[in-house]
Amino acid sequence: MSLSALSGPRIRSITEAGLPYETITVEKLTPLIGAEIGGADLARLSNRQMDEIHRALAENLVIFFRDQHLTQEQHLEFGRQFGELHLHPAAPHEPGHPELMIIKADENSVRANGEGWHSDVSCDEEPPMGSILYIKECPPHGGDTLFASMYAAYDALSDRMKAYLEGLTAIHSGEHVYRGMFAKEGVADKPSYPKAVHPVVRTHPMTGKKALYVNRGFTTRILGIPVDESEGILRYLYEHMENPLFQCRFRWQPNSVAFWDNRCAQHRAMWDYWPQRRYGNRVTVKGERPV
Ligand code: SIN
Repeated sequence: MSLSALSGPRIRSITEAGLPYETITVEKLTPLIGAEIGGADLARLSNRQMDEIHRALAENLVIFFRDQHLTQEQHLEFGRQFGELHLHPAAPHEPGHPELMIIKADENSVRANGEGWHSDVSCDEEPPMGSILYIKECPPHGGDTLFASMYAAYDALSDRMKAYLEGLTAIHSGEHVYRGMFAKEGVADKPSYPKAVHPVVRTHPMTGKKALYVNRGFTTRILGIPVDESEGILRYLYEHMENPLFQCRFRWQPNSVAFWDNRCAQHRAMWDYWPQRRYGNRVTVKGERPV
């Protein structure tokens, strides 16, 4: 499919004309994904602000906040407003806070977390609905995070491809991702890592919109079709969903927060800043079984 076909009415038709916000400001990064939220101190939110943040997340898939000064407890408490907190099956966490995952890379690192396109822990039976990353230290340049709308990726597929994918399911596995991944950080491997079967196209429980739900990180094969066909279809879908038309890119500053919805967005962290240091914490909110 040509790029001009992708930027046509099918893309425009999935954007929503939002109602005005009253207690926060919402500055879109692109028409399809990403918005910077102003006027909100995440440590002190009114109920009305919390409602509007929920709405801004649903409308923009990922939202960003600048100049936040949160204690670990305030970060956790903000996450709890959206649901029970998720425990990562492998990654290191802050001492005494298993729900506070450490995101860190520095001169001793050979990789950074989340370097490839993925939806967080999609290998869980009930993968996380959202992730709230609070970056406290970042390099002067680089270390951006890219986000891509899986609504837009689904919407831009041909009707024939949509019909083909309808009802298909795929295996998502944590084994090849997590085994040995955090050895350098002193985290011992578990005997096994999660594995689950999810629909290739899922319906978002809040918006009712369809989103592609396979990712390079965790998805290993589509079930019910030959292996080579699965490989070909997954390769096509990964290339398709990585089209920059579906993306926004966030440039971090110290004390920025990104909150993304794993049910309809994928993300990729840029590992382009070695030997600089980037450090923060992620609070992850539990989700439901994808349908
Ligand atoms: C992740 O949670 O996948 C890491 C994202 C990032 O470090 O930007």
